[in-house]
Amino acid sequence: MGASSPKKVNSRHAELSEEIERHNRLYYVENSPALSDAEFDRLFDELLELEEKYPELKSAASPSQRVGAPASNKFSSARHRLRMLSLQKVSNANEFAEFDRRVREGLYGKENSENKAIEYHVEPKLDGLAVELVYRKGILDVGSTRGDGAIGENITANLKTLGSIPLALPSNTAKRWPYLEVRGEVYMRLSDFRALNKKLAEDGSAGLANPRNGAAGSLRQLDSRISAARPLRFIAYAALSDDPNFAGEFHSQSQSLKFLAENGFPINDHSRSVAGIDGVSQSFQSLEKERGSLDYEIDGMVIKVNSFTDQQRLGVISRAPRWAVAWKFPAEEAQTTVENIEFSVGRTGVVTPVAVLAPVRVGGVTVTNASLHNEDILRTLDVRIGDVVIVRRAGDVIPEVREVIFDKRKDKARPVRYPKNCPSCKRPLSRAEGEAAQRCLNPACPEQLVGRIFHFASKGGMDIDGLGEKLARQFVERGFVTTAADLFYLNKEQLLELDLMADKRADNLLAALETSKSRPLPNALYALGIFGVGETAAAGLAEHFRSIAAIMEAGSDELLEVDGIGAGIAESLVSFFAEKENRDTVKRLRSAGVTFACKQRKAESAALAGKTFVITGSLSRPRDYFKALIETHGGKVSSSVSKNTDYLLAGEKAGSKLSKAEKLSVEIIDEEQLEKLIRD
Ligand code: IVH
Repeated sequence: MGASSPKKVNSRHAELSEEIERHNRLYYVENSPALSDAEFDRLFDELLELEEKYPELKSAASPSQRVGAPASNKFSSARHRLRMLSLQKVSNANEFAEFDRRVREGLYGKENSENKAIEYHVEPKLDGLAVELVYRKGILDVGSTRGDGAIGENITANLKTLGSIPLALPSNTAKRWPYLEVRGEVYMRLSDFRALNKKLAEDGSAGLANPRNGAAGSLRQLDSRISAARPLRFIAYAALSDDPNFAGEFHSQSQSLKFLAENGFPINDHSRSVAGIDGVSQSFQSLEKERGSLDYEIDGMVIKVNSFTDQQRLGVISRAPRWAVAWKFPAEEAQTTVENIEFSVGRTGVVTPVAVLAPVRVGGVTVTNASLHNEDILRTLDVRIGDVVIVRRAGDVIPEVREVIFDKRKDKARPVRYPKNCPSCKRPLSRAEGEAAQRCLNPACPEQLVGRIFHFASKGGMDIDGLGEKLARQFVERGFVTTAADLFYLNKEQLLELDLMADKRADNLLAALETSKSRPLPNALYALGIFGVGETAAAGLAEHFRSIAAIMEAGSDELLEVDGIGAGIAESLVSFFAEKENRDTVKRLRSAGVTFACKQRKAESAALAGKTFVITGSLSRPRDYFKALIETHGGKVSSSVSKNTDYLLAGEKAGSKLSKAEKLSVEIIDEEQLEKLIRD
């Protein structure tokens, strides 16, 4: 460290650096932060102040490197000591069995390979960017992209901004392995991606098309301060060294990952060793199931022969190792041509650009339309009519255009202009501040009504069999319905006027409408299409209030008590039911016979009969769990403490309700005492 900085300053700087890096690790690698953001910032500010005063303290491994540096002109190139390989691919169990056979025969010969179960290491294949980190004497020296496999770009300054990448290795590791390479993937979490896009829109900037483009674009910023502001993360999947003893010390992929984890690198928690084809197939299936609930995108599983000796014996063929393979999920991406770009009006008035595609099979279904999301993304992707694009369909989500293949763009490809007026009702569109969406604000807009009717009839809503978008549009165009309630007042003569409506189909539709009248409260509430009230929120509201009338009368405060209902949804509910038109719709639905039925809770006992409870503070389970528990034992739960309250069930951090209960001498109980009341 610098000669001119006093000893005390040096040691404080070292202490701060270590402390900051420890908290970075807790936050980014172990997912268990121990400091608040403000506390962390205080440490960081102190470090920056010290370095401002004593610039010689700024070392390559100082956490201050994480804030990024101003733009350079161009990235320099970085040669990889060992080629960054690509992977062979398989797409089904038969092809994987074929790979496994080649591995067994390669290791044991054709004759002796029959009954061997290879030990494999399986890892999710993250859909991000491959990078290499070179540590010299324990300090991160060069970080680079894959490039062509032999030479990549030197993006060290950008990679240093990632909190999940250690700037320095523990000193014993540095001593033992003075040269260490770590390879892995840089990616963006889905939740971070969504939050970032929201923020970009608020700042009036163009949004990012998808997390992978987001990660790639952020890493390749010449100004690393921009990378620093992006929520990028790193996952390590390989450790290499030029030291011949390295392979002697770590015998397998699983051991080397353990070594990486012990040295502060994040590794994927879905990685594991499994035995043979069966082990691999099972983990593949369970990964496929879990895929939708992960907070990052994966496009398959990487399967590696676990033993390093065996890897060595199998070797490399052209640019891919013989000991590893990528088993990809069913092709969820395909290439096709954009035939047109249309603008569709959704039930909330949002106008979405939609690419009309030459039909193409993606993930097992034929896709003819794909969402382009909004104006910003349309502009970022730069999709034009006539372009060849990659479309993607993941799980049940609406297919989307992922990228344009610019090499295939023809001169005549036409950009589209975002419409200024609603394509349906022709009123001017508006874009609220902080929103990416262009909206039609006319509540009587016919296309919005079509969307609302279609949503009303959907599976999660009233589940009216046979009522699709086309039929909804006919109802609206002919003026048969202006609100969802009108559906229940349609008669057979009207139905028979419609296109393609035969006698039988009309009867079926009337029967389906009749059946739907007894849809349970959560579905009927969801069907109303209140902004923000999805299936989960609707279920929570129904569980809590138990009648449509109670939900309609509830004020914000009471709504906020429901698990999963935040200020936004509460406000949306209040303003929805403040509109006379909406109240009338509910009234007409009820007079038509829609029950908004709420299942009665089966009474388990009458242990709490006649007792009124109020619940407050944070408990070991959601509040609605305790509400249901009390009610199934005959008790009542109300939202505020009064002299009629018998018990206050108080968890931790109980606030004003606790003091009020104390004042009114209401008995205060905890979870255990509640259970005792029920039991005894
Ligand atoms: S191993 C020789 N492991 O997939 C092994 N790659 O074609 C080469 N990837 O872009 C890579 N997750 O960045 C490996 N757990 C994982 C991976 C992984 C994602 C990416 C990698 C590269 C591509 C390999």
